Amino acid sequence: MKIIAFGIRDDEKPFVDQWCQANPGVEVKITQELLTPETVTQAQGFDGVTALQLNPYADEVFEKLASYGIKNFSVRNVGVDGINPQVVAKLGIKVTNVPVYSPAAIAEFTVTQLLNLLRRTKEYDRKMAQGDFRWAPQISRELNQQVIGVVGTGHIGRVAIQIYQGFGAKVIAYDAFRNPELEKTGIYVDSLDELYAQATVVTLHVPLLDSTHHMLDQAAFAKMRPGTLIVNASRGPLIDEEALIAALDSGQIAGAALDVMEDETQVFNHDLGNRKPDYPAFNNLFARDNVLISPHRAFYTDVAVRNMVFESFQASRDLFEKGYSDKEVKF
Ligand code: COI
Repeated sequence: MKIIAFGIRDDEKPFVDQWCQANPGVEVKITQELLTPETVTQAQGFDGVTALQLNPYADEVFEKLASYGIKNFSVRNVGVDGINPQVVAKLGIKVTNVPVYSPAAIAEFTVTQLLNLLRRTKEYDRKMAQGDFRWAPQISRELNQQVIGVVGTGHIGRVAIQIYQGFGAKVIAYDAFRNPELEKTGIYVDSLDELYAQATVVTLHVPLLDSTHHMLDQAAFAKMRPGTLIVNASRGPLIDEEALIAALDSGQIAGAALDVMEDETQVFNHDLGNRKPDYPAFNNLFARDNVLISPHRAFYTDVAVRNMVFESFQASRDLFEKGYSDKEVKF
């Protein structure tokens, strides 16, 4: 079998080598290039394709893969919102993802960023860079005093809940599909409105679907307690950024930690140097002391990267050799 892997970074290479050593029957070609309608031509003659990128995959990519006789595609991450489900279904291409590469990587990062918001780290860093080491006026808030509203109780949301409970915070949760074990603990509220009414922090751990697009909009912010903090390391379009800006301006929202943004592909994982991106909402939010922006890096740990490589390559092999993988995505 021959696999081609697109978008391979230097930090993934040792794991690709390890996987290849454990799978000597599989020939692997890697390229740093992302998978686009132009680069996809390199997949001709291969049996399996893996990729990882923030940019969505063009429909043409799958049309060309199908024309080369390639009927499987394995992403090295969890989110498949960059793939048009109708197109892959029409072409008969099976897609796999890596649903659980390290829930702790994401959950720990969201908690870290919330602590940084509560402790006003950005303001202190800026003050200290100017030689000002005074305490005041950045008095902080304590995590144990917060009511954390966790939206989405999949793998990541559940780890986040455990961590927050370890800090002594009160945690409430909402999910349209409840986890039976968690339900026994009485943590769930019946609606998002109820969660917004009680929480002092709203943290998002749901995928991007039609039903979750702009779930935090003007109406949602208005239902929250004044001074609520927002955490999002899931997908940028869950939040209407213009509505967030207005809610920050009015003080209804006291701060936000954003590891994902609506139009992030023009900024994140690029070195912009001194150039300001042509992205007004990003520039507005990035300039604020009470908004922490990070470049979609919650996933980026040693454990996660290893699992993303190993599990996606294995899924590609399984799909080709067995016609089946337990990582197949049911869109
Ligand atoms: C995902 O796994 O879907 C992520 O958000 C990580 C990113 C590298 C695409």
